[in-house]
Amino acid sequence: MIKLSSLTTPIRTLNDEEYLISGALRTDQMTGYRTKAIIVIPFRNNEGEIMGAYQAINKMTPSELFSEKDMEYITLAASYAGKSLESALLTHEIEETQKEIIFTMGEIGESRSKETGNHVKRVAEYSYLIALGLGLSVEEAELLKMASPMHDIGKVAIPDEVLKKPGKLTEEEFKVMQAHTEIGYNLLKNSNRHILKTAAIVAYEHHEKWNGKGYPRGLKGEEIHIFGRITAIADVFDALGSERVYKKAWELDRILNLFKEERGEHFDPHVVDAFFEQLPAILKAQVRYSDANLQAKQGQ
Ligand SMILES: [Fe+2]
Ligand SMILES: [Fe+2]
Repeated sequence: MIKLSSLTTPIRTLNDEEYLISGALRTDQMTGYRTKAIIVIPFRNNEGEIMGAYQAINKMTPSELFSEKDMEYITLAASYAGKSLESALLTHEIEETQKEIIFTMGEIGESRSKETGNHVKRVAEYSYLIALGLGLSVEEAELLKMASPMHDIGKVAIPDEVLKKPGKLTEEEFKVMQAHTEIGYNLLKNSNRHILKTAAIVAYEHHEKWNGKGYPRGLKGEEIHIFGRITAIADVFDALGSERVYKKAWELDRILNLFKEERGEHFDPHVVDAFFEQLPAILKAQVRYSDANLQAKQGQ
């Protein structure tokens, strides 16, 4: 990079050596442009490390030269740019960290039960696709994708003898099990973070049914948040379609027939329609995030 000091006083046209070392010669040869004057001002993060630079080439005045004032202005702009860029990078980092923590929390919830880690990834993908199929915005669909992996987080507080019981649960045990919805909600509801607030809704409402026969509150129809209605079908689709120690995976046709029967009963009819519309994409996601694929990756 050309030395800044050589561009200070007097501000003048690049000499041959500067023209070469600045890299401008090479670029000009490729583009046919002729670089006569350059200002390069680095911008730095809070630690003073260079994170990028502003470069201005050939001022659009008859002399085509930059002035001291130009340097000053660009230096000022660079100091703002450095700060903005750093905070944008930090925001991105925080968001990525949040997503990772959320996924991990979801996996913890699932690992307590009989599901596999990829179950939450698949539910997230299916929920996203169904949300788009319903005409929700990409932002909303992405929000749901981030929040839905935590639908069963409340299972962390359910005792093993209930959670891992191989046979049918007694009425009493089923009540204990159902509490995972309220526990999950209570764990997450006090957060001010958008994703966690959404996750609280999903944890609370993913076992509600369109006909009002679900739990924990027996909400009906549109009383159930759309995110709860979407995660409900995504969760059931994955649970039925996956093989577990205690059961074989259902054939796709059998699941689709059940969904047709449960359209307007367990599930919101519009959500079922969106599910069928998105089925090709859902089946692709099922393969991409299959347990076999996960094991193959872990074995590498
Ligand atoms: Fe659940
Ligand atoms: Fe689940």
